[in-house]
Amino acid sequence: MTRLTFVALGALLSVTLALPRNVPAELAFAHKKRYEAPAAVDRAQAVIDVFRTSWDGYFQFAFPHDELHPVTNTFSDSRNAWGASAVDALTTALVMSQKDIVNQIIDYIPTIDYTKTSTEVSLFETTIRYLGGMISGYDFLTGPLADLADNKANVEALLKQSQNLANTLSYAFDTPSGVPYNGLTLSTRGVDGGPNGLATVGTLVLEWVRLADLSGNSTYASLVEKAESYLLAPSPASSEPWPGLVGMDIDPVTGAFLDARGGWVGGADSFYEYLIKMYVYDPERYSLYRDRWILAADSTIAHLTSHPVPRPDLTFVAAYNGRNLSLNSQHLACFDGGNFILGGQVLGEQKYIDYGLELVNGCHETYISTATKIGPEIFSWDPARVPSDQQALYNTSGFYVTNSDYNLRPEVIESYYYAYRATSDPKYQDWAWDAIVAINATTRVGSGYSNINNVNVEGGGGFGDFQESFWFAEVLKYAYLIQAPEAEWQVGKEGKNAWVFNTEAHPFKVKGA
Ligand SMILES: *[C@@H]1O[C@H](CO)[C@@H](O)[C@H](O)[C@H]1NC(C)=O
Ligand SMILES: *[C@@H]1O[C@H](CO)[C@@H](O)[C@H](O)[C@H]1NC(C)=O
Ligand SMILES: *[C@@H]1O[C@H](CO)[C@@H](O)[C@H](O)[C@H]1NC(C)=O
Ligand SMILES: *[C@@H]1O[C@H](CO)[C@@H](O)[C@H](O)[C@H]1NC(C)=O
Repeated sequence: MTRLTFVALGALLSVTLALPRNVPAELAFAHKKRYEAPAAVDRAQAVIDVFRTSWDGYFQFAFPHDELHPVTNTFSDSRNAWGASAVDALTTALVMSQKDIVNQIIDYIPTIDYTKTSTEVSLFETTIRYLGGMISGYDFLTGPLADLADNKANVEALLKQSQNLANTLSYAFDTPSGVPYNGLTLSTRGVDGGPNGLATVGTLVLEWVRLADLSGNSTYASLVEKAESYLLAPSPASSEPWPGLVGMDIDPVTGAFLDARGGWVGGADSFYEYLIKMYVYDPERYSLYRDRWILAADSTIAHLTSHPVPRPDLTFVAAYNGRNLSLNSQHLACFDGGNFILGGQVLGEQKYIDYGLELVNGCHETYISTATKIGPEIFSWDPARVPSDQQALYNTSGFYVTNSDYNLRPEVIESYYYAYRATSDPKYQDWAWDAIVAINATTRVGSGYSNINNVNVEGGGGFGDFQESFWFAEVLKYAYLIQAPEAEWQVGKEGKNAWVFNTEAHPFKVKGA
């Protein structure tokens, strides 16, 4: 349906809400239900339309290169020229039931030669996007969405190609400690020499363990579990300034941390995310990971919680260096609300859900306070450093912008999704809808969607001409799923999950489901 229809339904809904107070509750509820349900369907379809527009631009001007440059209708290969946008888009096309696109992608995947590339490979990025996309596609197409594949051989190829890719990458773990190098030169089996980072080491375990379980080759699991063991028992002791919260850089020769800085920020972020997700994946094998998540979560609440001076009602999480706090956060870090909510649900601990909802509210504020209604890449709330031209923003909204880009990132909508799944409060569906409408209004350009330079000026301050692959994998998936009907792959409402999402939003079937 068109947007106009939605506006009309929205108008009806506000009429309903404005009914006199003496309308019986059941009647008001019936009205509300009748008009809200189609609105969610319309919203879900509108997100599918955005997905198809993005895919069409990519397919026409960039496929099978990694990404579309929508302004100039050209392409680039920032992820080793294996077709990153295609592989990353697969599972979103699946959950949206876009059968034609699903088959375009799975016809293509068997043709990728993962042993060849002319550019440096990031073990982390390759794992979360390519390996994650193919493994999740395999879980869907051998499971509840099997009907969407026209050719069964293409489905088997998803697992085969995952093994080919992992076998190609696995030499990265061949270090004295077992902590891998992240930067790989495949043609010479070269490595970047380190150090490696907390997120890049600690965000491999879900993908490689799932691959081990699907393929029966336990080597994939033992490689990543060995690497992760250094993150679960950090040394030296000074690299863990509070229990569970650790440093950022790790030496692959010794497995030791090289610093004590970090937080839930880029470079560290998805290490914490995966601690609880491994427990969701297999509670029997990964209870130690759960325990480490609980330590990190409790230390975060106790030591990193920060309320901006002019807006004490808002909660942000500070970054740290040792025990010194830095009052900065990022769009990337806004996944933290969702991760606390997930942890609270699976552990049955309301305090983590409540804290997560506070964080979601803080990140929402970074969206609704800007000219474009999109949140910035980096923001701060240090009262001693407010730039004079942002004093008004800081006074009213509790933060100022330190990097004004928007790079088509998902984390804020991702956390709205977890908030909605935990509370069933339609407010979060509205927030996600408002966000995607704002993103659509400002970043849609040429043949697709582009990163923008300044969320705090009307029109976004110019385009970077780059449509990221995670736009397909993450932004559009979360924006869709929060409006979509119940399905077994939706995050559980009661803390029971049949699927768990990797950090690129590719859902994996949990062990034993
Ligand atoms: C299992 O995976 C390892 C690591 O990639 C690889 O070296 C080995 O050949 C694989 N084994 C089989 C039987 O495929
Ligand atoms: C923390 O702050 C104190 C006081 O400003 C300073 O002496 C110390 O070097 C800082 N520590 C780190 C790790 O930056
Ligand atoms: C912001 O608040 C401070 C402290 O209350 C005040 O001195 C300043 O004039 C305010 N600035 C603006 C632009 O609102
Ligand atoms: C996105 O923008 C297009 C073009 O303006 C419009 O037709 C469509 O309804 C918009 N979709 C959303 C979700 O805002």
